[in-house]
Amino acid sequence: MKRIGILTAGGDTPALNATIAGAVERANQLRVEVIGVIKGFSGLLNPRVPHVHLNPLFRAIPELDATRGGTILGASRDYVDGNDSATIAKVAERLGRLKVDGLICVGGDGTLNGMQPLSDHLPTVLAPKTIDNDLGMNYPDESNEWNRVENSSSRGYHYEKQPERAFELSEMVNYVTPGYATAVYVTSLSVQRIRTTAESHRRIAIIEVMGRDSGMIALGTAYGQPDMILIPESPIDPGPLVDRVKSILDVQKHAVICVSEGIRDNEGNNLGALTASKDPAGNIQYSGAAEAVKRILVNRIGDAFFTKARRNESADAAIFVRKIGHTQRGGRPILFDHFNASQLGGKAVDLLASGYHNCVSTLKYEDGGLSLDSIDANKLRDRWGNIHARPLSTSFYDSTRFQPSKKGVEYLRTIFSNALGADDVECIRSLFNSGNLVHPYDSVNTHINKRIHRLDGTD
Ligand code: F6P
Repeated sequence: MKRIGILTAGGDTPALNATIAGAVERANQLRVEVIGVIKGFSGLLNPRVPHVHLNPLFRAIPELDATRGGTILGASRDYVDGNDSATIAKVAERLGRLKVDGLICVGGDGTLNGMQPLSDHLPTVLAPKTIDNDLGMNYPDESNEWNRVENSSSRGYHYEKQPERAFELSEMVNYVTPGYATAVYVTSLSVQRIRTTAESHRRIAIIEVMGRDSGMIALGTAYGQPDMILIPESPIDPGPLVDRVKSILDVQKHAVICVSEGIRDNEGNNLGALTASKDPAGNIQYSGAAEAVKRILVNRIGDAFFTKARRNESADAAIFVRKIGHTQRGGRPILFDHFNASQLGGKAVDLLASGYHNCVSTLKYEDGGLSLDSIDANKLRDRWGNIHARPLSTSFYDSTRFQPSKKGVEYLRTIFSNALGADDVECIRSLFNSGNLVHPYDSVNTHINKRIHRLDGTD
C-alpha cells in the first residue's frame, strides 16, 4: 500500500482533526502517502476532486493539529447514493485517478451507509465519529433485530426494532464514539451555568441538546445535574412529566430539564420535528423539542400556579427554553476524544494495510478499560442492507426518576472518569490572551486553500 485517501463526512465533531492526525502518524510510520479529499463525499462528486497531500515527505502538514476542533478537510452532508450506479462509477474512476489504494471515511452511520457502494470498487475503512454516540450496536447481532414494516398511510416502509435483550457493557460494539465526550462536556457545563440563574429567578429552564434519535448526549448531560432528562427512547407522557416538575418546584422553587432534540410522544410522533425539513442526506432537521415541552408545561400547569406563589409571572414567562446548539459540536476536543480519535485513525490505516476491507475501527470495553478493535461493516447491516443508528439502551435510563439508571451511571463512569486532562483546564486561560483583542482569527481554511490540488491540474 503506497497511497490512501481520507475524507470527513456528515456533521463535524471536535475530534475529526485528531482522527486525521492519528491516521497520518501511522501512515508516516508505514511510509504511506495520505491524500485528504476536501468536503467529504462532495469532493468525490466534484469531477475535479479538490484534495490535499497531508504528509509530504512523510511528515504531517503543520495545519494538522489533533487538538483543533472541526476538520481541516471540511465536511458536508452530501453522500453517494447506492442506487445511482452511474455516479458510483464516476467516483470510482476519480479515486483511480487519485491513485489511492484504499479510502478511510471518517463518519457515522450515514457515512457508513454512503461508503457501502464504494467498497465494491476499492478497500474502504470507516473511522468512527459522531457527537450522537449512535454508531454501533448494544450487542453483536442487534442489527438482525430490525424488521421492515409497510407504511399504513403512505407508500414505502419503515423499520422497527424488536425489544432489546439484556447485555453486558463488554458486549457493546463500538463502545463510544469520538466527539461524544466533548459534546457532553459542553452540555453539562451549560446546564450548570443555566442552573444558577434559573435558581435565582425561580424559573423552569428547558435545555435542548442534540443527538437526533439517540438520547446519549442527554443521558451524559447528567454530569451537569439537571433535575430531569428526557430522551427519545422513552416516550413523553405529559401526566407523569408535569407531576414530576411540580414536585421539584415544591421543594426547590425552580427546575432544570434537559431535553433531547429527538423526543417522541406515546404515538411515536417526533415532538421536535414540527417542521419536517431534511438535510441533503435525508435526515430530519430537528427544531423545537424544548419548545414542545414548554407548551405541555404552560398548558397543564397554567398561570395561576406561578402567580399564586407571588412570582408575578405567567407560566409562559416563568419557563424558558435554551438550545445549546452547535457549541456542543465545536471547539477544542477534550483529552478523551483526541486520544481515542487518534487511536481509531491509526487503527483504520492498520486495517487497510493488513488487507481488511469494508470494515470499521472500533473501541471495545474489556477488563475495566477501552481497547482497539474492528468489525466488518456487513455485521452492522440489517437483512435489507441498511445501517441503523444504535438506540440508547432502555436499561441505561430510569423513566420514573427521569435520570440515568444504575447501569447508565456505570456506562458513563467508564467513559468520563478520566476524560479531562490537565491541558483541557490550562487552555481556558488562553481565552483572555491580550493578542486575541488585536489579531483577527487566523482561519485554517486560508492555509489549506493554498495546498489544494485538483485532478484537472487547475490548482
Ligand atoms: O449528527 C450530528 C448532529 O449534530 C445532530 O446531533 C444534529 O441533529 C445534527 O447533526 C445537526 O446538523 P446540522 O449541523 O447539519 O444542522
